[in-house]
Amino acid sequence: MSEGKEAIGVIGVGWVGLVTASCFAELGHPVVARDIVAEKVSSLSRGETTIHEPGLDELLARNSERLTFTTEIGDLLERARLIFVCVDTPPTRSGDADLSRVRAVVEELPEGGDQVLIMKSTVPAGTGEAIRRERPGLAYVSCPEFLKEGTAVEDFMHPDRVVIGADPGDEEAGDAVAGLYEPLGGEIVRTDVASSEMIKLASNAFLATKISFVNEIANVCEEVGADVGEVAGGMGLDQRIGSSFLRAGIGYGGSCFPKDVSALKMLAGNTGYHFQLLNAVIEVNELQKRRVVQKLLGRLGSLVDKRVALLGLAFKPQTDDMREASSLVLAARLQGEGAGVAAYDPVAMDAARDLLDGVELCDSPLAALEGADAAVLVTEWPEFAELDWVEAASRMAQPLLIDGRNFLDADTLTAAGFEYEGIGRATASAPSAATAE
Ligand code: UGA
Repeated sequence: MSEGKEAIGVIGVGWVGLVTASCFAELGHPVVARDIVAEKVSSLSRGETTIHEPGLDELLARNSERLTFTTEIGDLLERARLIFVCVDTPPTRSGDADLSRVRAVVEELPEGGDQVLIMKSTVPAGTGEAIRRERPGLAYVSCPEFLKEGTAVEDFMHPDRVVIGADPGDEEAGDAVAGLYEPLGGEIVRTDVASSEMIKLASNAFLATKISFVNEIANVCEEVGADVGEVAGGMGLDQRIGSSFLRAGIGYGGSCFPKDVSALKMLAGNTGYHFQLLNAVIEVNELQKRRVVQKLLGRLGSLVDKRVALLGLAFKPQTDDMREASSLVLAARLQGEGAGVAAYDPVAMDAARDLLDGVELCDSPLAALEGADAAVLVTEWPEFAELDWVEAASRMAQPLLIDGRNFLDADTLTAAGFEYEGIGRATASAPSAATAE
């Protein structure tokens, strides 16, 4: 099957690069993936994945013959003409995107070759134009990433759309990239490079805006006795609004929304435009992470010497990614209020260890809840819905739970003896007669 399929190069095997490499191998392409971190390359060469992403282990194992991992750019250039750049673009101190890794890759590509640089890394609008100016001979295509962590393989194989930006002179390169994605059947959007770059940033900023919007609605719901779940459900049925990304909670995190919203704000600012709405989106999100602390203070009075258990640490379920996770702010704020913090996460414990100073990391949810005065559900891992909540209540000093993701069934928790409160949920329960002092 793989005969005749063009070889693909992938530079940077972080989360985006590894998913891209594995999925193109699954589609039958020989793939040469290069990373400068030798350790990563050697574990991947042994078939060991470096990130937690459902389905990825199986893809790597099934396609090991088509996948080559290397630290040498020469290995990649020898075999591949179509090169996906998947290096990270973290925020700089100024909030702009750090393009140093992208620039280093561009410098490694030879002058006068037939390579096509396909930019998957999220870059500010204008980056493609700048690279084309510096390297007029290099074919350049923008093909931004829309995968979600936790469902990345599924998203790659069934894209809503694939955006391909190419400027005049690079039409053929754009056609070649479009050809790679055609078997997947999603809509292919052909546009210019700057518009493609903006589609990516605008999409993430819009989704983040939706979340901050619904979080503010949740906060108002609390004041007027409405239930944000009902409100979002009713809003979402309007086709123009849509039901996704209207889950209220303790804020968005991850490697993308916080970084990309800030980068878009800065990009606008650098042109002299004040993107007011994004300021509000960012501020609402920051405050939302802290709201749980207010709720706990409201219920417990002081948090000094109280033990608070965090259930879940990762920025969302099905990943061990701790970047910009709400748990980081929450743990620090709770400690700041004098509380002792215990935590459990099914997969993010290793990733969390160095980031959570003074937090007791426990090897089961019940161990974290042992003797706790309150629990906070931070990440909606399915296993928390299955927990024996009666047992959990009996282990705690005080069965109080703040559900930061509106994930648990309020009635089940209340029946188990919990004082339960969600975010913008009308179901905040007073202590039941059985548990009230
Ligand atoms: C996001 C985008 O959804 C992807 O399309 C994009 O490719 C990716 O960023 C990227 O730029 O690479 P991801 O960061 O994996 O993907 O996570 P999401 O599923 O979008 O969730 C982001 C955060 O929003 C999480 O903390 C999640 O808990 C929160 N969220 C999401 C809510 O609080 N409410 C919602 O309704 C949805």
